[in-house]
Amino acid sequence: MKDRSNMVKVAVVGGEGIGPEVTAQSHRILNWFAAKRGVPVTLREAQYGLIPYLSTGKVLPEDTVEAMDEADAILWGATGGPETKEVPAAARKAGSLLSLRRKYDLYANLRPIVASPALAGSAPLKAEVLKDVDFVIIRELTSGIYFGEPRGIETLADGQRRGFNTEQYTTSQIRRVARAAFELARTRRNSVCSVDKANVLETSVVWREEVIALHKEEFSDVELTHLYVDNAAMQIVREPRQFDVMVTGNIFGDILSDCAAMASGSLGMLPSASLGPVDRFGRRKALYEPVHGSAPDIAGKGIANPLGSILSVAMMLRATLNRPEDADLLEKAVQTALAAGARTADIAEPGATRLSTVEMGDAVLSALDRVAGREREHA
Ligand code: IPM
Ligand code: MG
Repeated sequence: MKDRSNMVKVAVVGGEGIGPEVTAQSHRILNWFAAKRGVPVTLREAQYGLIPYLSTGKVLPEDTVEAMDEADAILWGATGGPETKEVPAAARKAGSLLSLRRKYDLYANLRPIVASPALAGSAPLKAEVLKDVDFVIIRELTSGIYFGEPRGIETLADGQRRGFNTEQYTTSQIRRVARAAFELARTRRNSVCSVDKANVLETSVVWREEVIALHKEEFSDVELTHLYVDNAAMQIVREPRQFDVMVTGNIFGDILSDCAAMASGSLGMLPSASLGPVDRFGRRKALYEPVHGSAPDIAGKGIANPLGSILSVAMMLRATLNRPEDADLLEKAVQTALAAGARTADIAEPGATRLSTVEMGDAVLSALDRVAGREREHA
């Protein structure tokens, strides 16, 4: 048997909605890198959601928990959709994506926003606005109002209901994600924009002060600016090319990253990486997923865009597998396929031929063969 000790373990969890369809394509891409480029991965597929719930009573059955626990990286599809109604809320919550982010302490969520020139014709923003857009949102993913206590729904004496949640951030929670942003900026254009609402919220006052303090102590070589979240939303659609690395809390990052999706041309194109702390062996748990979610309206039709998931594999090649050249190769292959006119429905110009999910996977695979072949010739 092959020695597996140096193999990087990847759990492949398609999940629900369009998740399994798009993940099947990124799975093929990973197989290509293992076979053609010797990338040392072992892949283990596992189920999530309604299907395992029906047979085991759990959306996250034991086998999946085991696959994810032992994995260095998780390739995640999507969760949610009409299926959620068929699973009791408590069972849903027990195995939710939020609980996984928390369990593995995946505090740094990287969402790169890159406008592809090939898609200028189908993008919702003007080509001149999208020119040269290339930034990364780092969203804090394991704290803030998503997890703050107390939270709940209560009935008041006068019979009204009151829902309440708690926004909160501690020094260390702010500093570790800000550190991730400063370190990433040093590998890019050396500029960080921190987003908060410090004119209203105490949480944001602490956020801004801690970011400034860390910057002063360790990262004064990096340019640091601050924006209030409302202004940041406007700037993202007004002039997105001004940003390099944007760092913000959980809920602001949730909202701004969907907004920023339009500055990339399409939500279907966006990958993400959620990274945990570095352990004593220098490893960090990571979950890679497309930003688009389960898209129940098109699930099962075979028309979803797999490029968000495929580009998440590029992030995995870079961050978990330490294969930056292979990551570049994959990103180049995606651009090559797009430049040659490969389009799923969500990114198709009027009148363009619309590829199925599988055909888009085929297009990227054949672009990989061509681009890798060209690189060999030039080597
Ligand atoms: C995201 C999603 C999730 C979030 C949902 C599915 C809980 O919108 O990853 O952006 O709010 O974090
Ligand atoms: Mg979201």
